[in-house]
Amino acid sequence: MDFSGSHILSIDQFERSDIEKLFSVAEGLESYANKQKITKVLDGAILGNMFFEPSTRTRISFGASFNLLGGSVREITEAGSSSLAKGESLADTAQVLSGYSDIIVLRHPEEGSVQRFAESSRVPVINAGDGSNEHPSQALLDLYTIREEIKQKGKNIDGLKIALVGDLKYGRAVHSLCKIVSLYDDVEIKLISPPELKLPKSYTDLLITSNVSFSETENLEDGIKNVDIIYVTRVQEERFQSNQDAKKYKGLLSLNKEIYTANCEPNTVIMHPLPRDSRKDANELDSDLYGNPNLAIFRQADNGVIIRMALFALVLGVEGQIEKTAREVNWHVSRDL
Ligand code: NCD
Repeated sequence: MDFSGSHILSIDQFERSDIEKLFSVAEGLESYANKQKITKVLDGAILGNMFFEPSTRTRISFGASFNLLGGSVREITEAGSSSLAKGESLADTAQVLSGYSDIIVLRHPEEGSVQRFAESSRVPVINAGDGSNEHPSQALLDLYTIREEIKQKGKNIDGLKIALVGDLKYGRAVHSLCKIVSLYDDVEIKLISPPELKLPKSYTDLLITSNVSFSETENLEDGIKNVDIIYVTRVQEERFQSNQDAKKYKGLLSLNKEIYTANCEPNTVIMHPLPRDSRKDANELDSDLYGNPNLAIFRQADNGVIIRMALFALVLGVEGQIEKTAREVNWHVSRDL
């Protein structure tokens, strides 16, 4: 793919070589993401960071990434505060906002909405989640995290064994993740969900055509045996008819220290796109795993910055110019807990 000037809407756009390119740009940005150095390569550029659904990590890490490259951020954080609430079409909103921005990040509750928006935008658009469809930048940061975590264990993505747990029907993060791991060889996936929340057929069809071997179960203990990664997800209650409806599935699959210790290899990595639902009735990933060195969820969230910086650098075509305006950071930086 030619990143420069492209919309980033789906993992369908990516080949393995594109992912390798993105990861190599990301590695070159480490000292900037870690605040050892700053760059002004996007000085004067404006990001339109448009979130029409709740978000913490995705919105802030997209914004912080743009700032770390020297650019400025303008935001909308609620549909109710924009003219969409007055009946304006997505196409008109795209025409207008693309006149004010150099690049737009959009999250929207409807599947396919970001694609429709992009068709009327004069600047590149990045999909930050369109309903239950896709969340491509999440899959990119998830794969980067998987690579980093298993590298330390002498493994690589080819041959990966991964368990996907929870709401596989509505979870856009797992949809994009299935697409991205399908680009690799000898991948095995355990799909663990209640029968009603199984991975949709279009994704299992893709796994079949991509030679990914997979099996489906509703039993957490069985599914998490002998995998490299357990990727836990939240019941996407906002996609159900009612909260009552979603409630039926909360708490059915809950990973805690006892279940992990009894069933997993001692170095199995635990991931979650976050937010985890820590309310008593859900608690899909118990906080008693805090302190387990294989709990990668906060390293995963941190990687959102470096991956999104790399995406901006490539889409805006500045990946070769970062060093030009670089200087040392001159304030106190402390990141270790
Ligand atoms: C995910 C999302 O919004 O799809 N969160 C995120 O972006 N990190 C997962 C979720 O909300 O459960």
